[in-house]
Amino acid sequence: MTETSMSGQPNEFTGMRAFVTGCAGFIGSTLTDRLLSSGCTVVGIDNFSTGQPRFLDSAAKHPRFRLVEADLLNAGALQAAMRGTDCVFHLAANADVRLGTEHPRKDLEQNTVATFNVLESMRANGIRRIAFTSTASVYGEATVFPTPEDAPFPVQTSLYGASKLACEGLIAAYCEGFAFQSWIFRLVSILGERYSHGHVFDFCKQLRSHPTTLTVLGNGRQRKSYLYVQDCLDAVLLAMSRATARVNLFNLGVDSTCEVNDSIGWISAALDLSPQVTYTGGDRGWAGDNPFIYPDTTRIRALGWRPKLGIDECIRRTIAFLHDNPWIFERKDSNSGAQRPPVVEPICMGMPR
Ligand SMILES: NC(=O)c1ccc[n+]([C@@H]2O[C@H](COP(=O)([O-])OP(=O)(O)OC[C@H]3O[C@@H](n4cnc5c(N)ncnc54)[C@H](O)[C@@H]3O)[C@@H](O)[C@H]2O)c1
Repeated sequence: MTETSMSGQPNEFTGMRAFVTGCAGFIGSTLTDRLLSSGCTVVGIDNFSTGQPRFLDSAAKHPRFRLVEADLLNAGALQAAMRGTDCVFHLAANADVRLGTEHPRKDLEQNTVATFNVLESMRANGIRRIAFTSTASVYGEATVFPTPEDAPFPVQTSLYGASKLACEGLIAAYCEGFAFQSWIFRLVSILGERYSHGHVFDFCKQLRSHPTTLTVLGNGRQRKSYLYVQDCLDAVLLAMSRATARVNLFNLGVDSTCEVNDSIGWISAALDLSPQVTYTGGDRGWAGDNPFIYPDTTRIRALGWRPKLGIDECIRRTIAFLHDNPWIFERKDSNSGAQRPPVVEPICMGMPR
């Protein structure tokens, strides 16, 4: 049977043997499902520091999926897991921007060193294609809005952004030095089903425990762009099939922004609540929280991509997911990365090697 994509178009990904790092995460698990439904074979790796086993419920039943439970810092396990695949989607990371200054080594290790390990494992396995989820946080305190990919070299304001920019640099250098090809995506905040961290999650969590009050970090005037997870993956897959440069760099986001205060309005309306809002004050929520993030998406739009959902609809879908999946609030409390024991030996499930 000829495989078709979710959009019903003939599929260019059929037959690809994809290696997805962070396959149990919010975006990684959604990508895994998309790749499987596109006819790919998928080997996913995750250490479940923030990933959720339940996000892999459907993939785990798929004959073309195999899960390796291992840490990217375990270079031997990573290299063995990657064997036999032909394209890497590198999503595993410490994706929490906010707490960088509490554990400065974490961004370096989980993002930069882990990416180096991924690149070295690719080299050892003769794999040359990599898609990487970077972040619009690399623009730091941008001076141009909307901010294009070739904006003046950005001054970094968060350890997360700095570690991701270092990853981008390493990937580009491997493209030059070892004839790799890369697709690097600078994402705004992503929303949608399986969303499990970020301000909408924090607000919903607060309102579950005390529906009449809400504490907001900063003054609520922070203005950002957001993107629905399936629109994000549409862009990733489109770029990989159309962009042919050695290093392909794309901003991904919608063509508008909203204030944190707007999202409070949408969240409150969706939950039918009118909380008393308290602001911690200042123009940002934490060190490195850039009060205005608005990447220019002209480059990805030139390939024909358009997001299907606006920010308000993304937020409503996210709230609906969190409402229907209250277990996620408890799980997020219990599987914080710092408390999980390190994985020594990789544990595999799914299709045989
Ligand atoms: N969600 C967003 O709004 C957003 C915005 C910009 C960029 N990104 C990037 O997109 C990617 C995915 O983000 P997400 O929101 O799905 O995050 P997530 O925390 O849900 O997923 C990350 C996954 O990686 C796994 N992981 C982390 N460190 C690992 C390690 N050392 N070894 C093996 N597995 C490890 C975690 O267990 C988790 O399953 C990340 O690279 C993140 O930086 C996300």
